[in-house]
Amino acid sequence: MTGVPQEAAGALPQDAAGVVPQDAAARREQLKEVFERARVCERCPLSQTRTKVVFGAGNADAELMFVGEAPGANEDLQGLPFVGAAGKLLDQLLGEIGMARRDVFIANVLKCRPPGNRDPEPEEISACQEYLFAQLELIQPTMVCTLGNFATKLLRGKPTGISKLHGQAEVVTVGPRSVRLFPLYHPAAALYTRSTLDLLRADFARIPAVLALGAPEQRSAMVPAPPGSAQTSPPGGDTATAAATDAQPAGAPPAGRAPDDDQQQLGLF
Ligand code: URA
Repeated sequence: MTGVPQEAAGALPQDAAGVVPQDAAARREQLKEVFERARVCERCPLSQTRTKVVFGAGNADAELMFVGEAPGANEDLQGLPFVGAAGKLLDQLLGEIGMARRDVFIANVLKCRPPGNRDPEPEEISACQEYLFAQLELIQPTMVCTLGNFATKLLRGKPTGISKLHGQAEVVTVGPRSVRLFPLYHPAAALYTRSTLDLLRADFARIPAVLALGAPEQRSAMVPAPPGSAQTSPPGGDTATAAATDAQPAGAPPAGRAPDDDQQQLGLF
């Protein structure tokens, strides 16, 4: 089992005892709270150039989650992940295994578009990763497909690239939970290279079998963190447990915005 370093998840709301609720409806409500924080986030300079925060969308209680790299131009305008050409391919590949967006949750490493679709900078990933870790903790997928290098490296906590790892399921521990990580080539890379598309399609076809394995064994029962404490593990360590130390109360939606707009942007099923 490999692990991922994780900082205290300040984006993660918790109840008074410092525990993420197990009830799906309560986790969904907390996911909305994290979205409200993300949509006004100014933790990195991408907040100055973005049009919309692309928090992620889909089934808030999904067994299967996809994690891409960062929003592109279309996503930035619409506030939804994978709505361009790469997204159409993702939809097609999901359809080929009998699934649809409503069955999964799709997020990105970065929630804001890097100008010109350049690669994410390490500082941007550091600033943004809490949101992804909070999503993983609240959605509680059993399987996570990382799309491309950035998501794979972040969730494995190791620098090995996607060409060596694609299609190989592995149990990794992210925060307090273990998931089956299944690295895939990024759909954008498969758009113009036939051999990459063939590899991606073959890996996709194996998703149902990995899903059928069910949740991996959890290394420890969820232990409530003492109020005000934060537990972290060293980079590459086997297990990292994070507790929010600076979780702020959910902010009220800014004035002048219809609540329905947010619901639509979060695209929860
Ligand atoms: N590429 C990504 O990595 N994410 C998106 O949302 C769109 C394209």
